[in-house]
Amino acid sequence: MARIAVADGVHRLVATPHQEGWNAAACQHVQAAVQNLQRELNLNGIPLSLSSGMELLVTHDLLQTSDDERAHTLNGSRYILLELPAFDYPLYTAEVIFSLQLRGLVPILAHPERNAVIQDDIGCAVRLLQRGVLMQVSADSLSPAADRAVRRCAQELLRRGLVHLLASDAHNASRRAPRLAAGVQAAARIVGSERAQAMVTRIPEAILADRELDMAAIAAPTPRRWWLRLFGSHHDVEG
Ligand SMILES: [Fe+2]
Repeated sequence: MARIAVADGVHRLVATPHQEGWNAAACQHVQAAVQNLQRELNLNGIPLSLSSGMELLVTHDLLQTSDDERAHTLNGSRYILLELPAFDYPLYTAEVIFSLQLRGLVPILAHPERNAVIQDDIGCAVRLLQRGVLMQVSADSLSPAADRAVRRCAQELLRRGLVHLLASDAHNASRRAPRLAAGVQAAARIVGSERAQAMVTRIPEAILADRELDMAAIAAPTPRRWWLRLFGSHHDVEG
């Protein structure tokens, strides 16, 4: 997987295993495993820099405070990666987000395009963004091989300027490999190459360095001309 990532142009990668609820022991385990893997990469001359994080399912457990919240964030920053269940939009989602924000954390929602409720009502994603949530679309979701509803939703999120980050959602070296380049190209056709590049360079760099992001500046809707609006959907189907 590391070799695939490097060949695809990735230099830095955050390992974010799935997690439910606060679990400091699991975080320590992941951090130790990531450090071991980094040593292996260095010994094998693979130029990839690893950081650790978690992908936390939105559950009501997150309403409780934990002394170890920062152990669960991306590279120990204020940014915390969340995911929704695939077919459900829990009623306590807004409450979880607010409670994390009260503790100084900035939620990032992983693959909003895969959530059935957001697919049906993009307004859900708009409201999350208005509440200060960053959106991370999976690069694979923009591939012609992706599920049709997932791909349409990912494209619509991009078109509306609701996306801050592109990520690989890598799970293995075959079907869900750590590749980004094709997704960046597909995103560039919708938001332009500068913004698509920022989603895999400038913005994640700021996140991993725990810098504050100017949300309005990085995700303002792309101004569109009337002829693009008329013909835009054709380009997207081809892309
Ligand atoms: Fe996920």
